[in-house]
Amino acid sequence: MDNLSPRLSYPEFDGARNLKESSIVAIGILGIGSAYPDRILTNHDLEKMVDTSDEWIRTRSGISERRICDADTATSHMACDAGRKAIEDAGLKPEDIDLIVVATFSPDTLIPSTACWVMAKLNIPNCAAFDINAACTGWIYGVSTALGLMQNGLARHALVIGADAITKFVDFQDRATCVLFGDGAGAAVLGEVEQGRGFLSETLGADGRMGPNLMIPGGGSARPISQEVLDNREAYVKMQGNEVFKFAVRIMCDSLCGALSKAGLAPADLDWVIPHQANIRIIEGAIKRLDIPRERFIVNIERFGNTSAASIGIAMDEAVRDGRIKRGDLVGLVAFGGGLTWGAAVVRY
Ligand code: ACO
Repeated sequence: MDNLSPRLSYPEFDGARNLKESSIVAIGILGIGSAYPDRILTNHDLEKMVDTSDEWIRTRSGISERRICDADTATSHMACDAGRKAIEDAGLKPEDIDLIVVATFSPDTLIPSTACWVMAKLNIPNCAAFDINAACTGWIYGVSTALGLMQNGLARHALVIGADAITKFVDFQDRATCVLFGDGAGAAVLGEVEQGRGFLSETLGADGRMGPNLMIPGGGSARPISQEVLDNREAYVKMQGNEVFKFAVRIMCDSLCGALSKAGLAPADLDWVIPHQANIRIIEGAIKRLDIPRERFIVNIERFGNTSAASIGIAMDEAVRDGRIKRGDLVGLVAFGGGLTWGAAVVRY
């Protein structure tokens, strides 16, 4: 037995121990990046596929077009592109990353995790890597998970990626869902920043009883892939849009206000709000209830649709690149999604 399990030494843990002893105080975003497919599917394209109209989609959801993966592109391809950009933006090298968290509900494979695919493809030599599934709240759950591990001394530089190739799980015969979603990835490298900057507070929540309102019923252990599952189109997203809508506006406001009050802040203190991009009417509802000027909301749903766990990362990357979000700005991030789940974070960028 001893021959089969040689004693291993773990030099990479030394850094983590040091980190714990020096008790890292502030963790922030060192670099960000995003990626999405080149292929654009417009509302007019969808008019040829299902009984819908550009007018219905724009007025009900705010979406004009979305990005769609081709057959050869999986979640990890977009996740790697976004992750590589975030590592470069942070001025780091792949070997500096010691934790990868990928938030996704559309993994390349059920096993290994997409995080492990990303680790291999980015040539990251030594790290912990795993996926989490909080659907569209994935980016916030991913960041919060990484923060907890970093605060416990288990990582110094975390690569957090929200990525979904959601259109692979969308039924392009179901007009109620296929018009809403798009593919993409948003990444952030987290690391130590000076006191007063970085993540100030987070909230997370879920109500599993509301799960059936948004699910992919087939393809898991409850309904493994079978001809019947395929014939019934059960391996695709099913959604009670109205139920999710009612819940979304309230929970977006409650969770963002919860995170703000934990940090001793008020909505008016925020320079920017980056909401999950699910529906422009949900975002408009949140703007009204939060009483924050509309121009402080980062919104790009018109061009991307709902990219699930990627949406906050893509929107943040765009706003940083075009100069809207600057270092030192106070940013509120808020999302809801399948589960149902929700979460918010406040970060001084
Ligand atoms: N084109 C034309 N008509 C349509 C379409 C379409 N694409 N889709 C539905 N309709 C029809 C319906 O059949 C219905 O017709 P009926 O009145 O004859 O029955 C009518 O339009 C109204 O349908 P509703 O579902 O009531 O429309 P609603 O105004 O609620 O908008 C929508 C639907 C856009 C889905 C909205 O409910 C919504 O955005 N919900 C939230 C979705 C969401 O945020 N999901 C989160 C996903 S996050 C994650 O974790 C993946």
